[in-house]
This record gives sequence, C-alpha cells and structure tokens, in this order.
Amino acid sequence: MIEDSILAAARALGPASRVMAFTGAGVSAESGVATFRGAGGLWEGQPVEEVATPEAFRKDPLHVWRFYEARRTQARTVRPNPAHETLASWQDRFPGWTLATQNVDGLHQAAGSRNVLELHGGLWRVRCCACGRHREDRTVPLPELPPRCAACGGIERPDIVWFGEMLPRDVLEAASLAARDCQVLLVVGTSAVVYPAAGLVEIAASAGATVIEVNPQASALAHLADVVLRGPAGELLPRVAATLAAS
Ligand code: OAD
Repeated sequence: MIEDSILAAARALGPASRVMAFTGAGVSAESGVATFRGAGGLWEGQPVEEVATPEAFRKDPLHVWRFYEARRTQARTVRPNPAHETLASWQDRFPGWTLATQNVDGLHQAAGSRNVLELHGGLWRVRCCACGRHREDRTVPLPELPPRCAACGGIERPDIVWFGEMLPRDVLEAASLAARDCQVLLVVGTSAVVYPAAGLVEIAASAGATVIEVNPQASALAHLADVVLRGPAGELLPRVAATLAAS
C-alpha cells in the first residue's frame, strides 16, 4: 500500500541529517517537460542523440543552437511543480542536504533550491568554445545565433554535457562525495540508465544509505531501493513531507 511506503519514507527521513536527492527528467514531467525515454526523441526528424553531440556542433553550430533555442523557449514557459517545491523546502529541513540533478531545465532553482549540482549542465549557461569563458544567458530568443564570446569573439555553445562528453569533474566529485556520505538517498524521476550519474545510486546503496525511489515505473536500479514510492513525484513527495512534518 502506498500509505505504508509513505510512512516508511518519512520514518527513514525523520532522524536523518545527511540527505541527498538525485533527480531526472521525471521530476519535471508534471511541469510539462517531456522525459527522454518515452518521448518521441526526434527533432526535425533527427534523433536527439545526433543533435546533442560535439560532432554535430562542429559541423553545423546553427542547427544545434536552433534545437537549444526550441528547448529554451519551452523551458521559459514551464513552472516548478510540487515535487521541485518539496525538495526545495527540504534544504532547510536537513542540515546536510544535497540536490544533484541530471536535468538542464533550471526548475529546481526556479523552485528555490540553492547549490544544485547540475550533472549534465544547464540550459541557461553558455560557454565559449575558444577561451572556455562561462556566462549565464536567459535571453530568449538569443539576438545572434550562434552567440559570440564578448571576450575573444569565439563561438559559444550551450554549457550542456553532450552525448560522448565527460561530466564536469567538480560537480561529479561533489555528488559522489555526498552519495557516499548520505544517510538517505531519494532517487526521483530517473530511469537510472545513464552513467556515471546513475552510479550515484550504487555508491549510496553500497555505503549503507537508505534508498527511496519515487517513480511511477521501476528504474533500472529499483532493486537497490529500500523504499519504493510508485507514482508521480509531484503527488507523492508532498505526502511524504506532510507525514514527516506531522511526526
Ligand atoms: P528518462 O527519460 O530516461 O527517465 C525519466 C523517468 O521519469 C522514467 O523512469 C519515468 O518512469 C519517470 N517519470 C515519469 N513521470 C514521472 C513523474 N511524474 N514522477 C516521477 N517520475 C516520473 O530521464 P533521465 O533518467 O533523466 O542526459 O535520463 C537521464 C539522462 O539521459 C538525461 O539527463 C540525458 C539523457 O541522455 C544527457 O543529456 C547527458
């Protein structure tokens, strides 16, 4: 019964101080953002895996930027849902709180989460391919495509981890440390098939954390979960929070 699982989750969280949340596309599903696996996966007839690559960008930066302009336009219109809001509220409930996300949509930050570890980068950041300078840019649409670096004139790219690229080392290290150290890991809205991000669940589980999975479907690492909340995160996380607050 879902009520038993909610109670079990609240019981695990109640005495914990070091809590980590690891989220994926499913946490934004109730905000209207399509997930990766299960969405059409095509953009202008091309598989997303072929657009979001360094090779595609080298060949045709404008084409790849137009894909991200479409994603930025969509991301501008969506709002955080109660799952993002509940996770944001827990940063002040647990002294050792860490939120690591695979999402680039910025909805955790829009809900008020601070210090979000963006494992796959962010839609609102750009990076110069020539000098490496990073900057935030929320302008939609961008005045010039591809945008140019104000410092060196180089072509700028989305500061997003593309297929075949490494994750930002400092972000992955911080997330791995938190996973090793946490008492409870919430795995929310991810299919847990993309590594190294999914490895965080294995790190936490093997270090003895209580793993709570929140997902309408079993993830690839559901067997590592001690508590399973089968259903939408935007409904179930607020129920866990209410039970926690009442206990
Ligand atoms: P996926 O699309 O693989 O998985 C989304 C998960 O969310 C699935 O397990 C769904 O069952 C679940 N889900 C759907 N609706 C939900 C809801 N309302 N509440 C909770 N869960 C829900 O997305 P990710 O696991 O995030 O990487 O994908 C991981 C990475 O694969 C992405 O970050 C991206 C992609 O390649 C890069 O771009 C580098």
